[in-house]
Amino acid sequence: MGKSSKDKRDAYYRLAKEQGWRARSAFKLLQIDEQFDLFRDVTRVVDLCAAPGSWSQVLSRILIKGESFGRRAWEEKQARERKIIYGDGEEGGKDGEGETEYVTTEGELRPREGVKIVAVDLQPMAHLEGITTLKGDITHPATIPRILQALDPDTYKLDEGQGESGSNPVDLVLSDGAPDVTGLHDLDIYVQSQLLYSALNLALKILKPGGAFVAKVFRGKNVDCIYAQLRCFFKSVYCAKPRSSRASSLEAFVVCQGFEMPKDFVLDPQRPVGLGAQVPVPPKKTKEERKKDGVVDDQKTTARDDGVTTIELDSDSEDDTKWIAPFVACGDLSAWDADATYHLPKDRISLDPVQPPTAPPYKLALELRRQRGGLYGKTGKEIKKAREGWDDS
Ligand SMILES: C[S@@+](CC[C@H](N)C(=O)[O-])C[C@H]1O[C@@H](n2cnc3c(N)ncnc32)[C@H](O)[C@@H]1O
Repeated sequence: MGKSSKDKRDAYYRLAKEQGWRARSAFKLLQIDEQFDLFRDVTRVVDLCAAPGSWSQVLSRILIKGESFGRRAWEEKQARERKIIYGDGEEGGKDGEGETEYVTTEGELRPREGVKIVAVDLQPMAHLEGITTLKGDITHPATIPRILQALDPDTYKLDEGQGESGSNPVDLVLSDGAPDVTGLHDLDIYVQSQLLYSALNLALKILKPGGAFVAKVFRGKNVDCIYAQLRCFFKSVYCAKPRSSRASSLEAFVVCQGFEMPKDFVLDPQRPVGLGAQVPVPPKKTKEERKKDGVVDDQKTTARDDGVTTIELDSDSEDDTKWIAPFVACGDLSAWDADATYHLPKDRISLDPVQPPTAPPYKLALELRRQRGGLYGKTGKEIKKAREGWDDS
């Protein structure tokens, strides 16, 4: 696939290069944040399956540099629009002038204090300022102590066998983990779900009460079982589909907020969640209790500060192994359509990727192909040259 045809086919691919993101995935996280306000009061984050690093870039720019993206950028845009409509009065809300929690009186960005971000991937990841990167497999138990040590290098001692308990838990665990897809849908969905469970088991060890977990999920036919298990650990579980994720793809993200370890539940490394653990299902609420929570006739209506009203339908199913998570489409409707092909002006320049892969898995295959020679080792031009017997050297 040529650089230019990919530019044409995918607006987010082009936009990522223009805005300096290492991958188009950055927009997925930003659009999820627009909806769920993921980064409010967050300072400690673990980014799993992080290479090439666009999610870590988002974390770095929002938490370390104090830049305005995602939810905050959206709120500021709303405030500017309100100001235009209502004038300078109170209705304008936060207008970005003067001192705010994000900006000093001199207009300088105010980075957060005590930020700690650890990024993990099987692939090596190019350095990002302020971020600790680890090369590791999230499905391997040895990765947890390494993450704990990276989070608290002064207090956590790997060689003293401190095990899997860190002193300072984290606010947010992200996982954008995806296997190399084979094209066999059932197999891809299964392998991806195992990555999600590994990320979840890891999150259960390092999240603080009230913390959040966001992970990629492929919506296969049994995805409801995953939602049901997540619901046992988090107060709210949503299935989010950002606008930058192709509608034609099975990909979505579980957004789980309000972590709460079920009473008397002990994590057993021999029987992790998803692989044999008996997770206590939260007791079903009576109609009265549901009414107290604001659920009227199994329909909960919440009016948010930003004017959006959400309606949740509560399923009364007797089957506790399945539960349908509310589905939320994230991202402004005016945003680019990830499935569309856009017409590009003739005089446009195709930009190089921000960060070429450090060690792509196909590198060895290409080298072997070249070494072996023959039809499989030659480029189209070389084959033509060999067939037609010409030489352009
Ligand atoms: C879609 S990419 C992540 C993109 C990343 N969020 C970003 O914004 O740049 C999926 C990543 O999952 C990683 N991955 C797959 N299996 C893994 C595992 N078992 N442990 C760690 N990383 C894994 C892959 O190496 C790949 O880099």
